[in-house]
Amino acid sequence: MRTLREIPALREALGDARRRGERIALVPTMGNLHDGHLALVAAARERAEVVIATIFVNPLQFGAGEDLEAYPRTLEEDQARLEAAGCDLLFAPDTTTVYPRGLAAQTRIVVPEVTDGLCGASRPGHFDGVSTVVGMLFNLVQPDLACFGEKDYQQLAVIRRMVADLHFPIEIVGVPIVRAEDGLALSSRNGYLSPEQRAIAPRLYATLCELREGLESGSAPSALLEQGRTRLEAAGFEPDYLELRAADLGPVTTVTREAVLLAAARLGTTRLIDNLTLTLPR
Ligand code: PAF
Repeated sequence: MRTLREIPALREALGDARRRGERIALVPTMGNLHDGHLALVAAARERAEVVIATIFVNPLQFGAGEDLEAYPRTLEEDQARLEAAGCDLLFAPDTTTVYPRGLAAQTRIVVPEVTDGLCGASRPGHFDGVSTVVGMLFNLVQPDLACFGEKDYQQLAVIRRMVADLHFPIEIVGVPIVRAEDGLALSSRNGYLSPEQRAIAPRLYATLCELREGLESGSAPSALLEQGRTRLEAAGFEPDYLELRAADLGPVTTVTREAVLLAAARLGTTRLIDNLTLTLPR
């Protein structure tokens, strides 16, 4: 696997693959890779001749007071894991390569509506940073497809909308959440949890599972969601949101069948997110 740091080298490597008529799959990441990221690489590997991962801790998607400085940077371990997973190329640029004029002067992509509420409400500007960097990576790599984890459900919806609205000729592949044995969704931020918090963390998924059971058997959503919030608080979480939305993140109406439960909650200073899709009864 070759690691490329500069845009001209990236363009040259991909130009060769394109001339050979090979399909290119992109896996954008911020590094500190776990099995969830490797599932993205595996999904990419199944669908394309060339798999390119990117590692870039994108400052544009972190708000003031968030964990930009503390975000784990583990390039050497990540390179070894990507290579073992069959990745062909890694693009790991510096911030000045991505944003040469600085963050304030950077042209941005703003996706409306689907960014409203949920993480968009508690992390203002976050999705503008995500869509801007992902749009830029799409332009640089020009992949045939790109793989994103379903754990970041709203992010995936934002990227799908951006691709549709800006007519990027790129297939977006959503890859199912990878969980630890106790149900906790894998995330680079799990590494911030103390042993006590790590023992509590699976309650987030367990609560979503309990709610799903109630909703699928016809219980009223508002009372169930209130109970879910109370349960999370009792376990030691500070819930940010716990919501039921239609699968496209629109509001749930009487005709909604495919839906999603979404949660974000803090354990100490660590913010965890998770979601579970479900089918509402008629
Ligand atoms: O999901 C992530 O790791 C990031 O938001 C992404 C898509 C790599 C953009 O920086």
